[in-house]
Amino acid sequence: MHLYYQGLYTRQAHKAIPDGCYEEEQGLKGFFGPVSHLIKRQPSTRWTKIEGPLRPHMYDLVKMDESEGWRRMLYNQHLTIAMLTLDPKPEHARRGLRSGDGDLLYFCHKGKGEVWTEYGLLDYRKGEYIVIPKCITHSIVPQERSVFFTVSSDTSHYEEPDRGLVGRHAIYDPATLGKPDLEKQEERVKAQKGDVREIVVKRDGEFTRFEFESHYYDTLGWKGDLYPFTLHTENMMPLMSHRAHLPPSAHTTFVARDFVICTFLPRPLETDKDALKVPFYHQNIDYDEVLFYHEGDFFSRDNLHAGMMSLHPMGFPHGPHPKAMKSVHTKTETNETAVMVDSRWPLLIDPALENVELKEYWQSWRG
Ligand SMILES: [Fe+2]
Repeated sequence: MHLYYQGLYTRQAHKAIPDGCYEEEQGLKGFFGPVSHLIKRQPSTRWTKIEGPLRPHMYDLVKMDESEGWRRMLYNQHLTIAMLTLDPKPEHARRGLRSGDGDLLYFCHKGKGEVWTEYGLLDYRKGEYIVIPKCITHSIVPQERSVFFTVSSDTSHYEEPDRGLVGRHAIYDPATLGKPDLEKQEERVKAQKGDVREIVVKRDGEFTRFEFESHYYDTLGWKGDLYPFTLHTENMMPLMSHRAHLPPSAHTTFVARDFVICTFLPRPLETDKDALKVPFYHQNIDYDEVLFYHEGDFFSRDNLHAGMMSLHPMGFPHGPHPKAMKSVHTKTETNETAVMVDSRWPLLIDPALENVELKEYWQSWRG
């Protein structure tokens, strides 16, 4: 359709919203398609009752079972979101994992350690992404209890975002990616008496065990552009404009088929007097939105702490909580770090999340 407007509207989105009014963005294709900005008297989050499956969800993952292992949370045909907890135990230096389902992305929420791979060693610590392409064997060897927010890309491979106008070195410079180190791995395997002889391969939810007569990681060298790597949030340079709030898509870290991973990092808030300083109310019409709160002071939400996860299914508008709207006038920066997964197709909820859901979350916009 062609651009059309009537009544009260703003010429520049997210800026100079008339006093006492609220802007709501309704857009297709995840902030890239046809879009309209509506000026409303009240936020559309003022619902008094929601019946049916499209409630917004909030989960306190800190309350999940604390034992070691994987816990699937949300999934569809293209991706699987799970938590993984690993303790430092000798058995991790004896076993490897290979995912035949897809590329594995681990975001380290807590802990530190090493990942041994056929390509060499990667170090990891809190706040680090580890990307292991499909079918590449790896062993996570924690040095302290490690908790990961993981996203498996089950029908595609992770790629870097299109940096467009801002050039190849914006958001994060490819030179800052952590590369696997074969020499260091050899030293560390010796020091830790590593002896990986069992490889577990996951495919379609089933596991196949391969056993070997000797240590599996025996690569002498390699070349190529397929290998596991890390990216630490400290090496990410968030985009911003001091004049107008940028959409979440400006914070895209990795793209895959029908979903994206974005990272929200600490940054100054917009300084123009008439700029909106909080996320705008919006219907991201084509996407389910998952937000994992990693660290910081989440000023925009009441009763929110690190280790929580929200799911906002497509089908209703959402935006800042009343607390954020009140406190934004005194704020000059945000110190939140969060990982977002935006999925083009609806996500299914694993029953395991039922026990850690904050059932009243849908009411939290009422102030
Ligand atoms: Fe959203």
